[in-house]
Amino acid sequence: MSIYQSPFPPGAAGVSLTACMERWPDETEHPFFGRKPGLTNTLAKRCVIPTDRALPINQVLSATYPFRPYNISAPQIGRDLMSLAVAHGLPAYDTHMDKFVIRGGNPLLGTIRVSGAKNAALPAMAAALLTDEPVILENIPQVRDIETTRKLLAAMGAEVELGYGRAQHRTTISCRNLTSPEASYELVKTMRASTLVLGPLVARCGRARVSLPGGCAIGGRPIDLHIKGLELLGATITQDHGYVEATAKRLHGGEILFDKITVTGTEDLLMAATLADGETVMLNCAREPEVADLADLLNKMGARIEGAGTSTIRVKGVDKLHGARHRIIPDRIEAATFIIAGALTGGDLNVAGCDPHHLGALLEKLNEVGVKTARTADSVRVMGDNPPKAADMVTEEYPGFPTDVQAQYMALATQAEGTSIITENIFENRFMHAQELVRMGANIKIEGRRAVVRGKTPLSAAAVLASDLRASASLVLAALVADGETIIDRVYHIDRGYEHIEEKLRGVGAQIRRIGEILPKKAAAPAARG
Ligand code: EPZ
Repeated sequence: MSIYQSPFPPGAAGVSLTACMERWPDETEHPFFGRKPGLTNTLAKRCVIPTDRALPINQVLSATYPFRPYNISAPQIGRDLMSLAVAHGLPAYDTHMDKFVIRGGNPLLGTIRVSGAKNAALPAMAAALLTDEPVILENIPQVRDIETTRKLLAAMGAEVELGYGRAQHRTTISCRNLTSPEASYELVKTMRASTLVLGPLVARCGRARVSLPGGCAIGGRPIDLHIKGLELLGATITQDHGYVEATAKRLHGGEILFDKITVTGTEDLLMAATLADGETVMLNCAREPEVADLADLLNKMGARIEGAGTSTIRVKGVDKLHGARHRIIPDRIEAATFIIAGALTGGDLNVAGCDPHHLGALLEKLNEVGVKTARTADSVRVMGDNPPKAADMVTEEYPGFPTDVQAQYMALATQAEGTSIITENIFENRFMHAQELVRMGANIKIEGRRAVVRGKTPLSAAAVLASDLRASASLVLAALVADGETIIDRVYHIDRGYEHIEEKLRGVGAQIRRIGEILPKKAAAPAARG
């Protein structure tokens, strides 16, 4: 089995191969595909491409030469050529096999830039379902969940253009003709946030059929509060064959008191209430910055929302919403991951393009463990020259310490002097990374929702397995300080929520590379008998 270095970052855009070929410099020989004349056929016959990633060919091309986006979506191209390649017994490339190889020991130095927030971009894309006019979103991260959401909306009849080249962080979504208000199990099972379409669809189309997400690595994660809220707004809900069916001639205003603080629950019902007849008052809402960012977009679309970002939100329903342009907030979880990486590696790292106001709980905790930080309006500098001290941490809803940073904090606690007790209050099964860290030499005991981390213990490189998005981030951080070369498998988890993480970290001195595996050549069909 040969190891092959993947040349292209994750991401997706609609690009037509032919249009690309038009602009391909005649004399240029592509490293994989040879010269232009007949190149399209060459691509069709002899290509090495990743699966289900929208733009393998164009990614390779664009990774080598800047092209502007065009019309025909690349996924179809990718899939056709992938099956063609496999059918021809030619080597093909499967990103699900990607691994990271990380050599630890380098302090991170310099400036690393934060992308737009995945957890703000997903509800914003769902919000486009509420209007028949185009919604333009900027600062969209190029991560796998965005591609999944594009597929989800396109399956309903929406036109979703993911920008490319200079416009690669812009998305234009038009939901003029929604032909089928349905979110299939195939898509929902790969990304639970797909349930965010439930409220907007029933509000706009009067009907929605959405697959129930099922369990997930970090917990049961039911959507009962979404359903209860929609019923309070007058929707009729039935459940069968693993799907929720919601119908309503028109939703009406009402009072929703959330039994438990839920981020996407608040976002889903906030979107539904914008087109309801009358006023809706939502109590015990999530106060995450992503909720406030969604309300900001909805108000630009003509909604009448007050109080987003607090635990009480008021929505005066309107008859119709219009298009808008909106810039997504920076990703505070990505920023937190890099800040902890700087502290852990004893580096001097400037995390730029973030909003320090969204990072209060983390910066307070770092101050407590003795890590120096300095902030400006849109950056945080972390100076990891003092070895961290141990400190207990409890995850809470915003503005408390985010559960999405718990795994990364655990990696830091393994290198802190003393014992840190980490309590996970939000999800019932979010310590999957602990055993992988123990494989690297950490001293961690799990007692129900508490993890007792005794530090400082030197970490040594090992082959480890990522189980979910944030768990894989904590393994990357641990590998940055481990002795030797760590191999992290299943990094497709990390591609779901981190844009080009290996390139960003390499840019500040990390020794990290992505490797993929060439799928074995299909065994030649046995000679026909007789
Ligand atoms: C959002 O998930 C985030 N995802 C998660 O980030 C994040 O971990 C979580 O909020 C908490 O901050 C997105 O924004 C797309 P919840 P969400 O509903 O909305 C229970 C990442 O790594 N609950 O706030 O699904 C639930 O089981 C992801 O980027 C119900 O019981 O989380 C959990 O225990 C992972 N019934 C608690 O509430 C419901 O109907 C909080 O979950 C809804 C939730």
